[in-house]
Amino acid sequence: MNLKGKVIVVTGASSGIGKAIAKKLSAEGCKVALASRSIEKLVEIKKELPSESFIAGMDVSSTASVNSAFEKIRKEFGKIDILVNSAGVMPLTYLKNRHLEEWLQTIEVNVKGTLRCIHEVLPSMKEQKSGHIINIASVDGKEIFEGGAVYGASKAAVIELSRAMRMELSPEFNIRITSIEPGTVETDLREDISDKELLENKDYGGNEPKLKPKNIADAVFYTLTQPASVNVNELLIKPTGKS
Ligand SMILES: NC(=O)c1ccc[n+]([C@@H]2O[C@H](COP(=O)([O-])OP(=O)(O)OC[C@H]3O[C@@H](n4cnc5c(N)ncnc54)[C@H](OP(=O)(O)O)[C@@H]3O)[C@@H](O)[C@H]2O)c1
Repeated sequence: MNLKGKVIVVTGASSGIGKAIAKKLSAEGCKVALASRSIEKLVEIKKELPSESFIAGMDVSSTASVNSAFEKIRKEFGKIDILVNSAGVMPLTYLKNRHLEEWLQTIEVNVKGTLRCIHEVLPSMKEQKSGHIINIASVDGKEIFEGGAVYGASKAAVIELSRAMRMELSPEFNIRITSIEPGTVETDLREDISDKELLENKDYGGNEPKLKPKNIADAVFYTLTQPASVNVNELLIKPTGKS
């Protein structure tokens, strides 16, 4: 599968995993739509990309923002071949500490944000009878831990959603669906955590082995470059040494 000229939308492109995916796929000749809220960061990233690219300001927690951003992307590139849903938040909390707004925000961005973006690309992918949607889930959607209840639930939802999408969308519309489930990756994601007790109890910045964002970008590249007859359903990736 040659990626040259393919149009890819990457949400969460301003940072971490999304940024690494945008860079990797631009280097492979994709036309890249960089989507997130931080326009200044996207402007800097765009300067580094060797291929055609487009900045789409997008807040995935707003249906109107997502709709308007996808309209602009469609106008710019005329089609969308690949969607990577990487926008996400991880304000881990102990349930007993009742961080309701953070719980709701986690579901808003990680689950509802993903649904909003899928909703936008389905009409054209159905019509084209092709497309690939990659959802960046997490190993935390499979392996729950204290403090990870709501985040884990949001990622479990994305994994289940991806399974159902394969059932409903792949046979009829030839749309490939992949969920990628990384373990700990070295990014800014942990800065979302405000639960002091949890931060004191757990070592989130510490010495545990971590993946690099590039490792996940390489996994996305592998997934996308399989023959059209091959769907990589799920990839669970951890740093060596973590079981
Ligand atoms: N790092 C890890 O250990 C790890 C492990 C497993 C899975 N993941 C998943 O990987 C994905 C990327 O996370 P990361 O590690 O790369 O973290 P990150 O560096 O903090 O990046 C998060 C991205 O999400 C975007 N985002 C957050 N809220 C948004 C909103 N309302 N609308 C649009 N974009 C929004 C941010 O962009 P703006 O702030 O510019 O909007 C940013 O680009 C997430 O889904 C995360 O759950 C990460």
